[in-house]
Amino acid sequence: MIDASWRERLDAVASSAGLPTSRHPRLGDWVRGVSDAYNQAAFPLRWTPERTAARLHFFLPRDAMKVATALRDVPLPEGDGPLRLHDFGAGIGASALGAVLGLRARGVSRPIRLGLSDSDAAGLALAARVLGGLPGVELSRELSLPDLVLFSNVLVEVDHGRPEPARIEAHARLVQNHRASLVLVVEPALRDCARRLQAVRDRLVAAGVPVLAPCTHDAPCPLLRRDTDWCHDDLPVDLPPWLHPVARGAGLRWQGLTYARLVLGQAPAARPCFRVVAPPRDSRGRKERLLCGTLDGDVLTWVDRLEKHASEANAAWATLGRGDGLDLVPAGRRVEPATEVHPWRRPHDG
Ligand SMILES: C[S@@+](CC[C@H](N)C(=O)[O-])C[C@H]1O[C@@H](n2cnc3c(N)ncnc32)[C@H](O)[C@@H]1O
Repeated sequence: MIDASWRERLDAVASSAGLPTSRHPRLGDWVRGVSDAYNQAAFPLRWTPERTAARLHFFLPRDAMKVATALRDVPLPEGDGPLRLHDFGAGIGASALGAVLGLRARGVSRPIRLGLSDSDAAGLALAARVLGGLPGVELSRELSLPDLVLFSNVLVEVDHGRPEPARIEAHARLVQNHRASLVLVVEPALRDCARRLQAVRDRLVAAGVPVLAPCTHDAPCPLLRRDTDWCHDDLPVDLPPWLHPVARGAGLRWQGLTYARLVLGQAPAARPCFRVVAPPRDSRGRKERLLCGTLDGDVLTWVDRLEKHASEANAAWATLGRGDGLDLVPAGRRVEPATEVHPWRRPHDG
């Protein structure tokens, strides 16, 4: 998805903007500095050239991959003309790039018209360098009636410091005011961010907004019942190899991709019956998955498969991880030899 050619492209962007390249020996330290600033929620962040280089060479590819994979299993806007994409809080272009890559990976070949907005004009100027020249993509100053709207790693900053109930209300209003065929919200896979997004989701469902993912039903979010739960994806997708030493130097992970997401549509659409919402529990004789989805009168159920019941029909059970959607035929608390397990689209299947 983000192959080695992107390292060269981002280095060219860095050089043209007078920023250090990805080869700079202190890049890992700068990445750690930006990560610390995010953890301290020191918003708005102060973007020095070093921090901007960290953002460009590390956070941009990582966050682009999050957005690209967040589009893996939802119905995409249809039409003939250019697909109109508005990225709210676009930063230096990671989310818009991820959406373009995700749409192309899903077979969308029509031109894409991109509108970017952000309170940080310098960030947008860099985004124009990153995204300019992408084949089939045109940057647009004024973009009305978008087909797809992105809020990627933005709500974490918006209304920071306000009391939680007011913030949830404001986020729900903000997202609702940007209606489109598809609205994608991505947030860090942190407990508070994810649970806030779950609460926003409950409000939007109550207001009649169709939720396409990650939810499999319209009942109140069951992962809000216990303070210790938060809904997020954890995909087996690693960062590209040239970022491994940078991540190591910064004390960050390069294995796996985690984020919380919410995808809204304008009309209800087919959804998987279940989604895995906890780390898999595998032991010698049994594989258990916590499923969100309607089963026996509840919407949160541990379902297991005994190893002696493994079969061709249910082989996919063993591969399911947190964030994966699936259908079970027939549905039940135990996967039997004849139970069919059908995973929903997963880009990491290759
Ligand atoms: C962490 S960055 C995310 C950038 C990009 N969407 C991504 O996924 O990488 C958050 C961005 O939101 C912008 N932002 C924060 N509050 C905003 C607001 N109220 N309106 C517009 N942009 C805002 C910041 O300037 C920053 O560029």
